[in-house]
Amino acid sequence: MPEAYGSLEGKRALITGAARGIGRAIAAELKGAGADVVCCDLPGTSENEEVAREVGGQALYADVTKADEVEKLIADAGEIDILVNNAGITRDGLLARMSEEDWRAVIDINLTSVYLMCRAAVRGMMKRRSGTIVNLASVVGIHGNFGQTNYAASKAGIIGFTKSLAREAGARGIRVNAVAPGYIETRLTEVLPEDVKQKMLAATSLGRFGQPEDIARAVHFLCSDEAGFISGEVLVVDGGMAM
Ligand code: NAI
Repeated sequence: MPEAYGSLEGKRALITGAARGIGRAIAAELKGAGADVVCCDLPGTSENEEVAREVGGQALYADVTKADEVEKLIADAGEIDILVNNAGITRDGLLARMSEEDWRAVIDINLTSVYLMCRAAVRGMMKRRSGTIVNLASVVGIHGNFGQTNYAASKAGIIGFTKSLAREAGARGIRVNAVAPGYIETRLTEVLPEDVKQKMLAATSLGRFGQPEDIARAVHFLCSDEAGFISGEVLVVDGGMAM
C-alpha cells in the first residue's frame, strides 16, 4: 500500500520550545503523521514532560542559547531527520528606550539559537545525506512592526540564515525552510493590549486569529516528502494579513 500523503513514518523529529503554544501543536501534528517526536524546552519546564507523554515521545531539556547544552541535546536526541527551531520570545519596546539586555535576549534566543541548533544537527544530517529543517520566522521579519525592532531583526535574520543554509546543505539532500506566522493565539500574544489585537484582527483577511494548529500543519507539510523540491522558502501563514 502506498504511504499516506504527508506521512512522517520512520522519521525522528526534534522540536524546540515544545512545552506550549505553537511548539506543542507541532509536536502533536508530527506525531499524528507518524513521526517519533523529541520535545525540547528550557530546564524546569514541567509542561514539556506532559507534551512528551501526550505524543509518546522523549522529553529533553536545554537552553537553546547555550552551545554546550545544545551539543548535549543533539547528542542525546540521537539521529534526527527533522529539526524544528520554534523556541522564541518577544521583549517589545520602542527603540529609543530599548535596553541592551532586551535587544540581546531576543537576538540570542530567537536567532543565535537557530545557528547553534542547526550547526549541531546538520553534521549528522550531512553524513546521512538527508534531513529537513524548519525555522519559525514571523511576518514581522518581512514587514517590520512598531515596537519590535529587536524581534523583527531576529526574525529577518532567521530568513537570511534559512536561505543561506539551504544553499549550503542542498547538495547533501537537506532541505531548509521557514514558516512566517501572522498573529497566532498563544501565551506570547495574549499579553498584547486589546486595541493592538483588534487592529491585527481587522488587518487579517480571513477575519480570525490564527491557532497553533494552523502553523503546525504548514510545518508538517514542509517536513514531508510532498515538499521534497521546496528549500530556502518562507511560507507565510497569516490568514491574509501581510500581503
Ligand atoms: P510561546 O511563548 O507560547 O512558547 C515559546 C516556547 O519557547 C516556550 O515553551 C518557552 O519555554 C520556549 N523557550 C523560550 N526560551 C527558550 C530557550 N532559551 N531555550 C529553550 N526553549 C525556550 O510562543 P509561541 O507563540 O508558541 O511562539 C513559538 C514561535 O513562533 C516563536 O519563535 C515565535 O517567535 C514564533 N511566532 C509566534 C507568533 C504568534 O503570534 N504567537 C507569530 C510569529 C512567530
